Amino acid sequence: MSKKSFVDAIALDQLRESYVTCVEVAGRIVAITRTAEGVNAFDGTCTHADFQFVTSRLAGGCDIECPMHGACFDAVTGEVTEGPADAALPKYDVRIIDGMVQVSADWADALQTDWGIASK
Ligand code: FES
Repeated sequence: MSKKSFVDAIALDQLRESYVTCVEVAGRIVAITRTAEGVNAFDGTCTHADFQFVTSRLAGGCDIECPMHGACFDAVTGEVTEGPADAALPKYDVRIIDGMVQVSADWADALQTDWGIASK
């Protein structure tokens, strides 16, 4: 079993409750939500037609809404709550260390390997 890599995404105190906050993490947009259920992170690209999300208030208080065609995704699970998207958002593991939100970033491992700087 491989050990997951976590990468700094954003300071916890910069996350507004009931918002989706979009940040670039190791070259990819990640959509981070903060709700009463906690902090969750998803791939920041809509599964309908690859539009990148932007920081915005959660629709209805609990959904990430794509500004392109209006698809909605649950802010805790990433499941589709309203079309036209029909696939959930990929979800990343999250941990909070010393006030910093970190997300699991398998793609960052791939980048490091491609660049030849990953430890063997
Ligand atoms: S690109 Fe998001 S709903 Fe179409």
